[in-house]
Amino acid sequence: MAIDFSQIPSPCYVLEEKLLRKNLELINRVQNESGAEIILALKGFSMYKMFPMVKKYLSGATASSLNEARLIFEEMDCLAHTYAPAYKPEEFEELIGYSSHITFNSLNQFHQFKDQVDAFDRKISMGLRINPQYAEVSTDMYNPCVVGSRLGITRDALGDILPEGIEGLHSHTMCENDSYVLERTLVHIEEKFGDLLHQIKWLNLGGGHLMTKEGYDHAHLIATIKRLKATYNIDIILEPGSAIAWQTGYLRSRVLDIVDAQGVDVAILDISFAAHMPDTLEMPYKPKVWGASDPIEGRPTYRLGGMTCLAGDYMSEYSFEKPLKIGDTIIFDDMIHYTMVKTTTFNGVGLPSIGIWHEDDSFELVKSFGFESFKEKI
Ligand SMILES: Cc1ncc(COP(=O)(O)O)c(C=O)c1O
Repeated sequence: MAIDFSQIPSPCYVLEEKLLRKNLELINRVQNESGAEIILALKGFSMYKMFPMVKKYLSGATASSLNEARLIFEEMDCLAHTYAPAYKPEEFEELIGYSSHITFNSLNQFHQFKDQVDAFDRKISMGLRINPQYAEVSTDMYNPCVVGSRLGITRDALGDILPEGIEGLHSHTMCENDSYVLERTLVHIEEKFGDLLHQIKWLNLGGGHLMTKEGYDHAHLIATIKRLKATYNIDIILEPGSAIAWQTGYLRSRVLDIVDAQGVDVAILDISFAAHMPDTLEMPYKPKVWGASDPIEGRPTYRLGGMTCLAGDYMSEYSFEKPLKIGDTIIFDDMIHYTMVKTTTFNGVGLPSIGIWHEDDSFELVKSFGFESFKEKI
């Protein structure tokens, strides 16, 4: 059955359970056939209501903060692979209590915390993030290899022998890329760090592997991972965020007003691009809207406006089959990854509710937010 949006409040992020399962099944197949460990990057998708389902298919998750590590520990019932650009001394003991692996962004941080990790009453595997100085990411905002990047250690800063206690290396340089980008990236990793790969137990190849996108060559990814494992005799870890929640749901919204802005028809919606879909402005990209297309001559065409006072809080332009009316439902596609995790209450705008369209075609409202959510954070 198609989703019945009349049952769903506006605005609301709606996760379609069967689509998430489809992604997880596919990723699990890649995991089994390649022998890699594939874990969820919480920074992209941390809707913990779905963690029991995620845990059925994946072995765990990766955290980039104390909060994420604790959420993994409490809601996924496992220990996190943790990496952050810097750790706070006052949080570190608690953080490693939730972590099985801890990756340091610099040698400074490794030396600062190494003894604390060694003294912990459970073994925690330590790694270093490397910067292979190669990324195929066109937006600088998402490119960890821009000159001056703070993310990772370049080869010249590491000696011939890894510091004692380091068991893994971590490289994250990809963003919504395919396996051929990974292959080209590996040329640089192996050229620069190949000798060190023989000294480690695991290599974490970060996120950005968009293996649930149509057309992705899974056989090529599997072969690439198998080759790496065999060449260096190491475990391979991938930690995608986007790929897990890719095309698994929507942001349901509604038209509140339609204004003629000096010849431009603007439909003002009950959502905000800045507060609820910030990647559309940051990346930037134009999200797909159900029943709408890029402008077509002669069709009713609108700029879609957000409800904050930020002048740039809008998206141009969409043509619809019929003129829009106040109260119409507008569905933004693929709005589950990097949305809920990035929302703000800028301008005091309310956060969209969160819901699940279950596999048995029932709707569950998981959360709605009121004044308290706004007040709590300011
Ligand atoms: C270190 C690290 N790992 C994993 C990810 C997840 O990447 P993606 O959601 O593109 O798969 C990111 C994203 O920024 C990251 O910085």
